[in-house]
Order: sequence, then C-alpha cells, then structure tokens
Amino acid sequence: MMLHIPGVLSPEQVAQCRTRLRETDWVDGRQSVGSQGAQVKRNRQLAEGSPLALELGGIVSTALMANPLFFSSVLPLRILPPYFNGYAGGEHYGPHVDGAIRAQRGGAAVRADVSCTVFLSDPDEYDGGELSVADAYGAHDVKLPAGDAIVYPSTSVHQVMPVTRGERLASFLWVQSMVRDDWKRSMLFELDANIQALRAQHGDGPEMVGLTGHYHNLLRMWAET
Ligand code: NI
Repeated sequence: MMLHIPGVLSPEQVAQCRTRLRETDWVDGRQSVGSQGAQVKRNRQLAEGSPLALELGGIVSTALMANPLFFSSVLPLRILPPYFNGYAGGEHYGPHVDGAIRAQRGGAAVRADVSCTVFLSDPDEYDGGELSVADAYGAHDVKLPAGDAIVYPSTSVHQVMPVTRGERLASFLWVQSMVRDDWKRSMLFELDANIQALRAQHGDGPEMVGLTGHYHNLLRMWAET
C-alpha cells in the first residue's frame, strides 16, 4: 500500500531543516547502499550518524511517530534514523529494491518493511525528481509538497527520476512494522479507517465495540513485538 501523509512537518520545521542542510557538506549517496544500488545511485546525502543527521532525523522521526495516519498505516515497531539527501544537475537513483535488513550502529538489526520519503522541497522548485514506485497496478509517480510524506512497501522496485532543474531535498527512512506483510497491514489500516468513520457518524454502541474488538484481535494475531 502506498499512502500520502500530508503535513508531517510544519512549515517552520521544513524551513529549519532546509536552513541547516544549506550549511552542510554532503557525502556521496553510494555510501549507504550495496553493490547493486551503487551502480544506479547518483545523489548526495548527509553522512550517516553525523551530528546534523541525528539532530534533523530526530525532528522527522518524532513528527512521524506523533502522526496518527503514519501510525495506523505503518504500525511501526522500530524506526531507523532518517537519512537526508539532495538531487540536482541530473542526479537520480535508478530502479532498485531497498535492502531487507539494515544494521544499526550498536543496536539490533532492523528489517525494512516500509520505506518513507518526507519531501523538503516544493514541487515547483525543481523539474523531474519524481519518486516512481512500481506495484502490481503499474508505476506511480509521486512528487509532494514540502512537509508531506509518502509511505510504500520496501519490497517494491522504485526509483528517483533525474532532477533537471533546481534541487530536490528530502528525508527518507525505513521502518520495521509490527505487521510485516503489506496486505495484512493494508487490511488493518482500512478496517481502522472505516471504524473511525463509522464512530464519527454513529457514535459508540455494541456493534462498534464488536468491530473495534475485531480489529484488535486481528492485530493480536498478526503483530510481532
Ligand atoms: Ni530506495
């Protein structure tokens, strides 16, 4: 399931990230990928584990974890420190699948179930740079307002198209979900969203208690913690 999550970062938080990113030195984006990804990746990113990456990453991950739509769609168990990247002058990241297991410095390995991009540039600031995600229904091109996020299954083949004008700044991260299977996660999300909508229309009653219990019992059956 791909989901657009609007307004993850406030305009002030976006401005803060962009100001700090302007002051920094970038490293080659190939630093964080395997040999297959290195062949197709051409961009710049903040050095993994650098003080600035940790500081800005804290802003992004705190905002995501506080976002109800992110929580109900991703059901996060572990969230990896966010990366920050820049694309300009034709930079791009060709078709690839994200690695399944991400090592953490001094911590347990994390399985990448869900990939998330938080846009830090507005669409009119650059040409190209679409995040293109392929699934069973075809390729979906995504280019969102600054502060908005897209979540998509880490199992999908995806790419970032060449940026031919301006600069595209973004943060991206991986999450291990309590529910590893994308289809089960989608079913839980849809059930939850429909229960919330019914509650808003009809209030609570025995049927709502039953449906809510059904959601939790499915989560109990499928979740790993
Ligand atoms: Ni990727």
